[in-house]
Amino acid sequence: MRWRFRASSDMFPNTMTGVEATKNERTGASDEDHIAFHNVNVELGERMVIRNLTCGFPKGRITVILGGSGSGKSTTLRLIGGLIAPLSGKLVVAGTNISKLSPRKLVPVRAKLGMMFQGGALLDSTNVFDNIALPLREHTRMKEDEIRSEVNQCLTRVGLKQSDGLLLPRELSGGMVKRVALARAIITKPEIVLCDEPFSGLDPITTKRIELLFKQINKELGMTMLIVSHDAAATLRLADHLLILMPDRSVQGPPDELVNSSDPRIKNLLSTDVDEDFVKLDKILDTNAGFGPGDLESTWS
Ligand SMILES: Nc1ncnc2c1ncn2[C@@H]1O[C@H](COP(=O)(O)OP(=O)(O)OP(=O)(O)O)[C@@H](O)[C@H]1O
Ligand SMILES: [Mg+2]
Repeated sequence: MRWRFRASSDMFPNTMTGVEATKNERTGASDEDHIAFHNVNVELGERMVIRNLTCGFPKGRITVILGGSGSGKSTTLRLIGGLIAPLSGKLVVAGTNISKLSPRKLVPVRAKLGMMFQGGALLDSTNVFDNIALPLREHTRMKEDEIRSEVNQCLTRVGLKQSDGLLLPRELSGGMVKRVALARAIITKPEIVLCDEPFSGLDPITTKRIELLFKQINKELGMTMLIVSHDAAATLRLADHLLILMPDRSVQGPPDELVNSSDPRIKNLLSTDVDEDFVKLDKILDTNAGFGPGDLESTWS
């Protein structure tokens, strides 16, 4: 059944200025949301990087977060992961307001989250099996034979062979790195999976394969998935729900509605006209910036 928004648009005053909204564009959070932002402000290095963000992420659905570079996409994931705290506003994750929680009280909320980092953030000197096993070893009291069984099942789930578990990260293709990173994100069966740029650096065919994997895992395990992406075509194929971050406003709604937005910036972000030179440049410039390895340490420390 398709997810629908039920709240009225006049509940959320922060974003519709000067631009006609499409029928289902919305800017608030509803009871069906697994994660809800209410007037969230974030300051980093004395700069407001997120202003008055009010939005919701529907439970069990795939939401794609789009926006220009520096619009706050990775910051949004970091907030949800409790890696940074908002300056003000309310942020509810799986029923808990985490905006002012102490690190100790954040632990049970973080246990509901899986994180797939930009660039994979796999531990270089550790093989695939041990990379995937890491959250189980850190956060559970499972015995080694149970861990072996879980990791092997997870390898199969993400389309890898058990023998791939013996490889080191440097021996993996780009697509395999994403699969391993996804396996590590879902190994604890989290309620919510956060994925920062999972398609960056991948060719179109591998992108489609990873997309299918997301869809399959979302369908089979019912996880709420938040995916930051720059790929408009992948976004439109994958998303049940979209959040678009822009400097002066944010917009959310079903992708098939937002493509008809009267805001040219939204049209542009959702345009599937591919400029091959930019695709090549994007691959060359693909770095490990964003929601990355530094965050990995703080998440599991
Ligand atoms: N630790 C920090 N200190 C100061 N400013 C920061 C910090 N982290 C991020 N920022 C700033 O916050 C803004 C949003 O950063 P963020 O990484 O969320 O952008 P993004 O939308 O993920 O961009 P990209 O598409 O390039 O990954 C940027 O202007 C960035 O410079
Ligand atoms: Mg980013």
